[in-house]
Amino acid sequence: MSAESSDIKLINEKITHQAWVAIYGLFNPGLLHALFEEARAHEASSALKLAAIGHKQSKIISSLRGDSTLWLDDPRCGVASKIFLEALDALRKDLNQSLLLGLESVEAHYAVYPPGAGYARHRDRFRDDDARVLSLACYLNADWPEGAGGQLRLHLADGHHDIAPNMGTSVIFLSDEIEHEVLPATQTRYSIAAWFRKREIHLR
Ligand code: OGA
Ligand code: MN
Repeated sequence: MSAESSDIKLINEKITHQAWVAIYGLFNPGLLHALFEEARAHEASSALKLAAIGHKQSKIISSLRGDSTLWLDDPRCGVASKIFLEALDALRKDLNQSLLLGLESVEAHYAVYPPGAGYARHRDRFRDDDARVLSLACYLNADWPEGAGGQLRLHLADGHHDIAPNMGTSVIFLSDEIEHEVLPATQTRYSIAAWFRKREIHLR
């Protein structure tokens, strides 16, 4: 699956001018439904692990972050995860043609936020590892109700901008520039977070 050239153009333009973009319809709806089902299955089988903040030896479990995650390259992941990773890699190659960011690899995890959980304001680039260049969030809840919270809040120079975590919406931003947070929700929030990296993935 390859992204529409109009999508690539939009991403290119918005990333260049404002460092972030919210885009609808970047991924196949059938694939998103399959990813939602996979996320639910991982939740039911306890494959998801409470997320840590930080990197390598400095990982800590913190109240700043309440999601549970599973990397899409985990052997317990199914065919939807594999297809999605391939779609992300195709997107990586398309973006390299236009944005010239030297993206060499992509990593992605499911993230499930139970009701009341959020992720405090942060940037995605680690202090000890600057390999993350572009962040992508892809939402898996169909028909997210208005008033249920769970928005991605981007902190921008001229104020904040909230994006509802609705299936079909994806958000892409520069990992070291955009401060952001996940607001707590009244219902379980299913998503995938991915990072395009400028170097190969190290062992986790
Ligand atoms: C993250 C993150 C945003 C979102 O996982 O680092 O900021 O909307 N996720 O899920
Ligand atoms: Mn983040």
